[in-house]
Amino acid sequence: MVEQKATNVHWHEGNVTHDHRQQLLGQKGVTLWFTGLSGSGKSTIAVALEKALMERGKLAYRLDGDNIRMGINKNLGFSAEDRTENIRRIGEISKLFVDAGLIVLSSFISPYRSDRLQVRELHEASEFPFIEIFVDCPLAEAESRDPKGLYKKARAGEIKGFTGIDDPYEAPDKPDIHINTAEMTLQEEVDLMINELINRGFLLAYR
Ligand code: ADX
Repeated sequence: MVEQKATNVHWHEGNVTHDHRQQLLGQKGVTLWFTGLSGSGKSTIAVALEKALMERGKLAYRLDGDNIRMGINKNLGFSAEDRTENIRRIGEISKLFVDAGLIVLSSFISPYRSDRLQVRELHEASEFPFIEIFVDCPLAEAESRDPKGLYKKARAGEIKGFTGIDDPYEAPDKPDIHINTAEMTLQEEVDLMINELINRGFLLAYR
């Protein structure tokens, strides 16, 4: 847990509530948290799902490991401490965007169970929905895809502490949704996600 450094700060309520914003957008805010190895397909699913949601009149917003690390988290690397801080910040940002009424698609390796649990608890403390999706892909398959050539570099010792090679990935025990990307097409994955969101009541018009 990160201690709050600032003292003498007070929460300032507005006149426009989370519910007002959801009504304006006609949707329910939720964080969909995609966790899995590099190359497992997290970002690919999020990109396709964002478009499918847009086509259904739902506003989603993607937060993606590589992108975030080029901006707000550019001061973080891949040590255990930095990964924890990366996920903590993204958890807070996801929560803000859910408060804004968005469907947040957060794609981060997020290799540590305790970090993911913290993000879930952060949402639950505000009664915001949080859905953990395990983008499951055997290491051998992710490594054979190697879309960024990083596994090759990691095997050659050019990248140290690469998740799955010489850094751990703690798979979720009980993810809310489990997608095995080695056995499904992208279209099937998007359909599965849309069906899950329908069944959980997230694609109804919100009034
Ligand atoms: S996390 O572990 O802190 O959740 P995050 O999802 O933000 O990671 O970033 C992972 C992305 O950074 C990978 O998809 C890959 O492109 C890149 N990357 C660079 N170095 C590493 C590394 N040592 N381990 C994992 N990913 C790395």
